[in-house]
Parts: sequence; C-alpha cells; structure tokens
Amino acid sequence: MVDLRLAASFRRIGEEYDLRRPGFPEEAAAEVLPGPVGSVLDLGAGTGKFTELLIDRADRVIAVEPSDPMRAVLMRKLPAVDARDGSAEEIPLRAASVDAVVAAQAFHWFDRERACAEIRRVLVPQGVLGLVWNRSVPDCTWDRACSRIAHPALEPGPSALDGPSEHLPGFEGPRVVHVPWFESIGRDEYIARWLTVSSFLAADPLESARMVALIEDVLDTDPATAGRSRFTLPQVTEVFVYRSL
Ligand SMILES: C[S@@+](CC[C@H](N)C(=O)[O-])C[C@H]1O[C@@H](n2cnc3c(N)ncnc32)[C@H](O)[C@@H]1O
Repeated sequence: MVDLRLAASFRRIGEEYDLRRPGFPEEAAAEVLPGPVGSVLDLGAGTGKFTELLIDRADRVIAVEPSDPMRAVLMRKLPAVDARDGSAEEIPLRAASVDAVVAAQAFHWFDRERACAEIRRVLVPQGVLGLVWNRSVPDCTWDRACSRIAHPALEPGPSALDGPSEHLPGFEGPRVVHVPWFESIGRDEYIARWLTVSSFLAADPLESARMVALIEDVLDTDPATAGRSRFTLPQVTEVFVYRSL
C-alpha cells in the first residue's frame, strides 16, 4: 500500500532534488532501450534525471510528473521533452501511443494495479516497460545503515538483491540487470542528499534533525567514513525490463 503522504512530499521540492540526487548510468537506459524507438514515456520523471538518457534513444520523449516544481526543472533543463502534468494512475496519453514506458526511482509510489493497467493501455502491444532504481550496495555498511534510518522497513522498490523479482499483472518478465557504479561524494553533500528523500521531506523539523543526527553518528563511527570529508559511495542500478502481453 502506497503512503500517499510520502508520495506527495515531492510536490514541495524541485531544484534541491535536482542538485542533490544522483543520476543514472547510461548502461541502465541501454538495457531498457538497446535500439532507437519512436516514442518513450518517462513516468514520475521528476526533474528529468533519467529522461535525459532517453533523448538520444527515441524520436519523441514524453515526461509525466505530478509535482509542479519537479516538472518546472525538467522543462527548463530539457525543453525538447513533452512534459505533462499527470500521474501513473491517469496517464494523459492516448491508447497504444508509446513504444516504451520507463519509471526511474518512482514505481513504488504508484498504485500498482491501476498504474499497470494504465501503462498497458498507453503501450503498443509487446511494448517495453523498464523499472529502474539506484540502490545501496549490501556490503557498504555505512550507506546501508543510513538507508535503514531513512527507510526503517525496507528500501523502496522490489529489489532483486533481497529476493525474487516481482511479476506484474499483464506483463511478461522481468529480465533483471544490475549496473554497479561508484561516486565520489563529500560528507555534507551526502547528508544533504538524504534531506531530499521522502521520509525527510515529510518529517517535522525535530524528526528530521533526529534522523540527521543518526546519519552523522553512522558517518562518525564507521571505519570507512570516520574522520573523512569525502567518501567513495558504491551504488547499483537495478533495471527490470518487462514486455506488455
Ligand atoms: C524519487 S522521485 C524520482 C524522480 C525521477 N524519476 C528520478 O529518478 O530522479 C519520485 C517521483 O515520482 C513522482 N510520483 C509520486 N507519485 C506518483 C504517481 N502516482 N504517478 C506519477 N509520479 C508520481 C514524484 O512526484 C517524484 O517526482
């Protein structure tokens, strides 16, 4: 069940999200779209961090994003993209009008049944659905510990790192690909990134400060980060590729 309060927390952020959040490796986009297509829809496109990887892979790129500040950044950065207000549950497109749909770091915010039905409606038969998440790496103890502070239950999304991958109604697949990558990140930048995560966006100032203190404590005590102002952050981009039936 989606926590709508957390999902709506992105309605208050745009520029800061774009500044703080990481992008995605090209290889992740190449796994979803190995060759050029006519049209692709990025659903829950945010500020366009994955959308920008689609531009050279499709004649027409459409981005659907419900948050006004997120969409405003996307429109400024990527003027060639057809950016539209909308949601995964009500996609503002005609039936069978796109060859592929992508959702990066976003599918866990959708009402799954309704979103899958809508995605199938707008996709051509045998159209591609690519779901993408940047995830913490299991053996990076400090980043995993910080993830648990932000997401006490589980990191969002159906991680194949934690179990079998999920079947989606009306789709075949998935084919699962893991793309590992590294990022050099300053301690302050790393902490500021957490402030763009839904649980921080939705928290009151006291709760947010409590979570920041816990993250600082992890960074002060883990041998890989203690006493350092810059870290190497390993990440893995998980890509799930489905086809509509
Ligand atoms: C973590 S951000 C990911 C943004 C972007 N795809 C990226 O990778 O940077 C999640 C996005 O999903 C959007 N979102 C939340 N609920 C949604 C829904 N029901 N339909 C479409 N987008 C939704 C949010 O507004 C937010 O921009």
